[in-house]
Amino acid sequence: MKPSQKVFLAPMEEVNDIAFRLLCKKAGCELAWTGLSSPLNPKELDLQDKPVLQIFAKSTKGIKAFMKKYDKKVYAWDFNLGCPAKLAKKHGFGSYLEDLEVIEKILKIMRGSTKKPLFVKIRKSSLAYEVLKIAEKYCDMIGIHPRTRAQGYSGEPDLKWAKEFKKQAKIPVIYSGNVNEKNYKSFLKEFDYVMVGREAIGRPEIFAKISGSKHFERSFKDYLKLAKKYNLPFKQIKFQAMQFTKGQRNSRKLREKLIYVKTVEEIESLL
Ligand SMILES: Cc1cc2nc3c(=O)[nH]c(=O)nc-3n(C[C@H](O)[C@H](O)[C@H](O)COP(=O)(O)O)c2cc1C
Repeated sequence: MKPSQKVFLAPMEEVNDIAFRLLCKKAGCELAWTGLSSPLNPKELDLQDKPVLQIFAKSTKGIKAFMKKYDKKVYAWDFNLGCPAKLAKKHGFGSYLEDLEVIEKILKIMRGSTKKPLFVKIRKSSLAYEVLKIAEKYCDMIGIHPRTRAQGYSGEPDLKWAKEFKKQAKIPVIYSGNVNEKNYKSFLKEFDYVMVGREAIGRPEIFAKISGSKHFERSFKDYLKLAKKYNLPFKQIKFQAMQFTKGQRNSRKLREKLIYVKTVEEIESLL
């Protein structure tokens, strides 16, 4: 069950829709994470790409049934303990879930609900080593984003902390934080796996560069085809159109126009 590649698409809420994940796969990314899913949310999930399905929770409620429902469709499961968002603060999940007993209960029930690989993703925090000890009992790997909750997504990731963490870990470590097509090899000298996050937004071709595949080019048309197939909402398609045009010729002008579009047809004629 070990992945054969070492560079993954990091979990990104609002970014990693099914169409985007499928494009990253086409570009050569073997494993793509979903964004956050709540076991209590009844909305149906499209998981045809066999992603790593990441959940957030602050109790064990609903986890067993949720995992039973989707277990056949996923490559692996991941538990989010890193989210710094306001909503996470309000409800006490992600990086705001700091009760080690609850964390252990959740990972235990997740372990009991699947034979698939199980991961947990954390940030740099004072609880990180205690979570590691729990993860070593239940999980196959641990993902680390070595920025603190207060840092959010800015400031430098603490590489020194991350390397020390890796030294102590008895399970493989997935590193996340400023990974791109130029530096991923140097991270792989220190860590077992790496994840690409923001560098992949609107740029699925980054995985073609990394995997050496020459048969992939960024194409919003390809995204759109998939987005239609999976009935993605207009808002999501517009969001991705904005991302996909970044760095292209005339992109500023295009994006200024994109702001005002109201239908998929308008996007199509613009792009
Ligand atoms: C828009 C966005 C959404 C994210 N959503 C999630 C998420 O749902 N779950 C998670 O574990 N991390 C999430 N992250 C964090 C990324 O997975 C990653 O750890 C972080 O962005 C650092 O990597 P990067 O520097 O390559 O972007 C998100 C990051 C961004 C920018």
